[in-house]
Amino acid sequence: MRSGPFEAGDKVLLIDPKGRKYLLTLRPQHQFSSHLGTIPHSDMIGREEGSVLRSSRGAAFAAFRPTFAEYALKMKRGAQVLYPKDIATVLIWGDIFPGTTVVEGGGGSGALTIALLQAVGEKGQVITYELREDFLRQARTNVEAFLGKVPHWMPKLKDIYEGIEETSVDRVILDVPEGWRAVRHAAQALRPGGLLLAFYPTVPQLQTMAAAIEDESLLVLQEVFETVHRPWRIQGLSVRPQLRMVAHTGFFMVARRMS
Ligand SMILES: C[S@@+](CC[C@H](N)C(=O)[O-])C[C@H]1O[C@@H](n2cnc3c(N)ncnc32)[C@H](O)[C@@H]1O
Repeated sequence: MRSGPFEAGDKVLLIDPKGRKYLLTLRPQHQFSSHLGTIPHSDMIGREEGSVLRSSRGAAFAAFRPTFAEYALKMKRGAQVLYPKDIATVLIWGDIFPGTTVVEGGGGSGALTIALLQAVGEKGQVITYELREDFLRQARTNVEAFLGKVPHWMPKLKDIYEGIEETSVDRVILDVPEGWRAVRHAAQALRPGGLLLAFYPTVPQLQTMAAAIEDESLLVLQEVFETVHRPWRIQGLSVRPQLRMVAHTGFFMVARRMS
């Protein structure tokens, strides 16, 4: 993550007076435009993060570099991304730390991939299986726009249901619709003590996956849970949960590889 004054090529998040967020890439000849007016990118270049810029119609926009969560929700999508609250859960319940080798299936838009790459660091490795070439291309664009070139990422245009080529990996993370078709491969790819984490939006998927893990003698199911993120609003005396929230995303399953 860069710091210091904004430069051409930086990603910038503009926040308008109502809290609406706009993600842009600074290009000297371009201008940002919304219903609240325009701001030339050249006005932002050289300014510190947290600067307030006035649009042509006098509206105040605060300018920051996007956090990962802000970027993940704003970046261009191929497939549906994991929500930041679920990505946070994957990192801790999946026990991802610097130096870890992680196999991920599927790559989708690359939101989880970015977080995994940051967490494993340059001494770790993330191997991403993705079925669709267009999604893999989009994931690469999103990953590189946020992290630059990442030598510790190995994207593969491959069907994870057909096998996992790696062995002795620390973690397998599945965000694919029929992860039970990869349970055997995950069990064989993981080192003893390694961890399989799977994410499913629906109960039938959860049940099918649980049955597949139960049938796999090398794995033991440890935890099934969901996480709820409930944002609040604080405005004068109006201190209460927001009226709208993302009520459901999915369930997590965590299994361990036996010896
Ligand atoms: C929900 S998306 C993953 C989103 C991703 N975790 C993110 O945060 O951006 C599911 C992805 O799995 C891919 N997929 C589905 N079946 C697959 C398979 N058998 N092997 C590899 N990828 C697969 C889909 O093409 C899709 O891109």
